[in-house]
Amino acid sequence: MKTAILYFSLSGNTETAAKAMASAIEADLFAIETTKPYPKSFVGRIFVGGFQAMFKKKPSIKPLSFTPAQYDLIIIGTPTWAGSVVPAIRTALAKFDFSSRNVALYSTFAGEAGRSISEMTELAVGAKIVDVKSAKEPAKVSDSLDSLTAWAKGLISR
Ligand SMILES: Cc1cc2nc3c(=O)[nH]c(=O)nc-3n(C[C@H](O)[C@H](O)[C@H](O)COP(=O)(O)O)c2cc1C
Repeated sequence: MKTAILYFSLSGNTETAAKAMASAIEADLFAIETTKPYPKSFVGRIFVGGFQAMFKKKPSIKPLSFTPAQYDLIIIGTPTWAGSVVPAIRTALAKFDFSSRNVALYSTFAGEAGRSISEMTELAVGAKIVDVKSAKEPAKVSDSLDSLTAWAKGLISR
């Protein structure tokens, strides 16, 4: 099974999970980056990122040679910002064509998982959502990292 993991990560949690899953299931990794970087400070990130998330902004993202049609399964990962999917994933879900693709969604969060999974489910138009999972900060919580890795292994053994 040819698998891709597409993710955005600002402080490493979603990326740590993406990398662990990619090495466990031999998936291709695609990191989404915004054209304009976010502030370095936590307060700046909360201000700019939180605003963009709340107002459902779609910031421009750097070019990525990712073709959904080449994959049997696509795993998409987002941090949770202001209870929502991050703006860059909103952009990616509008930009790439996921119709009739098998897609699995995961989110990472600090406190509560919020609406990011349900929003991604709506935004991945025409995709077949095969499974979803949310986990608390996998770079800091080893159980979260283990459970996401096990989840990814389960996805490809179906
Ligand atoms: C702008 C911003 C807003 C956030 N909002 C929330 C939130 O509403 N709920 C929550 O549980 N965590 C929130 N967090 C924490 C992140 O979701 C959490 O740390 C996540 O794992 C970060 O992923 P990353 O390290 O891959 O960037 C927020 C973080 C940032 C930077």
